[in-house]
Order: sequence, then C-alpha cells, then structure tokens
Amino acid sequence: MSDKILYGCAAVFNTPDEITHAAEKVANAGYKKFDVHTPYPVHGMDDAMKLAPSKLGYVALVFGLSGTLGALFTLWWISAVDYPIVIGGKPFFSFPAYIPVMFELTVLSAAIATVLAMLFIFFKLPNNSHPLHGTEYMKKVSSDKYGISIQADDPQFDKEKIKELFETLNAAKIYLIHWDNDELNHKHKILEPKFLAFLFVVALISSGTAYFTLNKLMFMVPFNWMMDQPKQSAQQKSLIFDDGFGMRNPVPGTVARGYLPYQFKGQPDLAGEKLVNPVPISNESLKLGGQKFDIYCSPCHGYHGDGASRLRGQFPNPPSLHSDKVRKWSDGRIFAVITDGQNIMPSYSTQLSVEERWAVINYVRALQRALNAKESDLQ
Ligand code: HEC
Repeated sequence: MSDKILYGCAAVFNTPDEITHAAEKVANAGYKKFDVHTPYPVHGMDDAMKLAPSKLGYVALVFGLSGTLGALFTLWWISAVDYPIVIGGKPFFSFPAYIPVMFELTVLSAAIATVLAMLFIFFKLPNNSHPLHGTEYMKKVSSDKYGISIQADDPQFDKEKIKELFETLNAAKIYLIHWDNDELNHKHKILEPKFLAFLFVVALISSGTAYFTLNKLMFMVPFNWMMDQPKQSAQQKSLIFDDGFGMRNPVPGTVARGYLPYQFKGQPDLAGEKLVNPVPISNESLKLGGQKFDIYCSPCHGYHGDGASRLRGQFPNPPSLHSDKVRKWSDGRIFAVITDGQNIMPSYSTQLSVEERWAVINYVRALQRALNAKESDLQ
C-alpha cells in the first residue's frame, strides 16, 4: 500500500440530507477538486457543490459559429468567386439563399463537436478506468450510501484536516483511495500487435460474412426495369446511326396524313392560275375571315385593307388591298401571298390554317366590294 500514490480521501454518509450538508461544507471550505457520488440524482446537489455551469457550452458555441462562418465563406467562394453564374438575375453573393445551409452547418458542426468533445475530452475516452472503480466506496455509493471524495491534487489537500472535517460531519466511514499502479503506468494498447491482429481478424470475418450473405446467399436481381430501358434518351448520342442523331428526318417526299403540302412555293403566278377557292362565301366564312383578318392582317394593312397601318412607321406601310392589281388577282394569287409571304411581308402559313386563309380571302373580297359597290348591291 505504501508505495502507492494517493488519489484522494473519501467518505460515505447514510442519508441524502447529510451528503447535501457535507457537500456544502466542503465547497465552503474552499475545496475545488471534489466530487459527490449518489445512487440516484439528489436534488439541489449542484447548488450545494457550487458547481460552475458545464464548459461544454463553449465547445458548442465555438464549433457552431465556425459552422456558420464556414458555410458562409464556402458559399461566397463558390458562387461569387470561383464559379459565378447568374441565377434568375440575382446577385452572385445572395445572402438569403445561404441561410438554410448556414443554419444546417451550424447545427451539424455544433452537435458533432459537442458529442466528440464530451466523449474524448471530458470523459477521457478511450481511457475507461478510474481509481474509484472497484473500491468498497464505489460499491456502497452505487447501492445505498452517499459519498464524497476530495482529490489529492486539490491545492488545499491535507489528509488529517479532511478526515477531521468528515468526522465532524458525521461520516459513516472514511477511506483513503490510492491509484492503482497498473493504471498509473497505463499505456494505450491500441497499437499492440495482438490488438491490431484482433481488429484485422474481426474486420475480415465481418466483411466476408456480409459479402457472402448479401451477394451469394440472399442475392436478388435488382428491380431496375424502369431505369435500364433500351431507348435513346434526350441529348444522348446514337450508336446505331452514323450521324449520331437519335431522331430521324422523314424520308423525302413524306406527306403527313390529312395534310396536303403547298405545291407552289416561289411560284405565286402559277398558284394564281391553278388554285381555286374551295370555301364558298357564307356568313360563317366571312365572320371567321373577318376575325382572322383583324388579328393577323389589320396591324399592317388596316381594318379596311387600305394600308392604314397601326404600326406608326415601325414597319413599312403595305400597299392598299383595293388596288386594281389586287382586285383583279385570283383568290389563288392572294393565297400565295399569305402562304409564302411577299418581299418583306412574312408568311402567315403557321398562324392560319388553309381553311382560315381562304376565309380571310373571302373577307378581303368583301372589303373590296364594299368600296366598289355595284348598283345591284343596293337592291
Ligand atoms: C407585318 C405587316 C403585314 C401584315 C401583318 C400583313 N401584311 Fe400583307 N403586306 C405587307 C407589306 C409590307 C406588303 C408589301 C410587300 C411588298 O413589298 O411586296 C404586303 C403585301 C400584301 C399583299 C400584296 C399587295 C400588293 O399590292 O402586292 C397582299 C394581298 C397582302 N399583303 C395580304 C395580306 C393578308 C391577307 C394579311 C393577313 C393574313 C397580311 N397581308 C398581313 C405587310 C403585312
């Protein structure tokens, strides 16, 4: 015993009131390095021991803040310095967008740092022994007694004085507790070859078992029919066709069902000769033609086809549709202008279906007739 180094002096008490009183007295006597052990949490013990708040809070604060600033710095670097892209017209350094990431990183780094600091700094893992372990004192205070221990490295430590103090406090028993020699000379066993070999064998067995179970014993063909389809995805190079395109153009001369291609492109006079207006003049056709004319033609040609453009000189004014020239044109010749365009007038074949074009022509005829009414129109 004598060659052992003293860890501290401990005492057990019989009741929670006694231990609370003892803790108060020890704290008031100015001892700093002491601890209380009770079988269950005793209320008011923190106050009696004059415990300062845990230092763990500082760890959380520092690492939380470094998470916040780290996220801010990273996002700023990525989106304003290293790879600036305009997104929705917003500035490169767009603080509101960073808030969720900053918040998440704050919580993450604070939580991880707190747990790690608690385990490895405050609890001193992987060291898992303590001089109080295995002592009679510990057996008592973990079943039905209440104990207090003062460490020998407390600046005020004096064996005799402390014994006296404990006695006046009515301690049931007083112990001197020594360090275990083994523990004092304790070396980390983590790098011992035996331990490393053990780790290696455990890793080998567990990974081998997992591999065998998952790949041989319980193997199922993965259900990925939806993902692995023999198809050509958008933007993907085709391995079948030489030009690498997945989509093919229709064979030249292909005609879509129910659609006759315009056969007089660039030949308006031939169109005027060959095309016949298949839509008879009727109330319905004039109504449709008028509506389409007002939408598509009137901005340039004016509501009456007289060239009173509404574009205020932003586009050259077209000639009047009431000229002798246009009046003498066949319907097919006008169809050619609408379908093909003429000089600076663009084609309207995508805006107007074939029927609508003929209806517009019927309407243009009506406009022309209105300016050149015949006697018979009045009857
Ligand atoms: C963007 C303005 C604009 C619109 C819209 C427009 N045109 Fe024209 N149109 C012109 C111009 C400009 C000319 C004269 C082109 C030229 O220099 O030969 C013209 C010429 C014409 C001519 C031939 C006139 C001639 O004397 O050579 C006809 C017929 C005609 N347009 C009909 C129409 C019809 C029908 C519509 C509606 C489907 C229409 N235009 C829509 C600007 C327009």
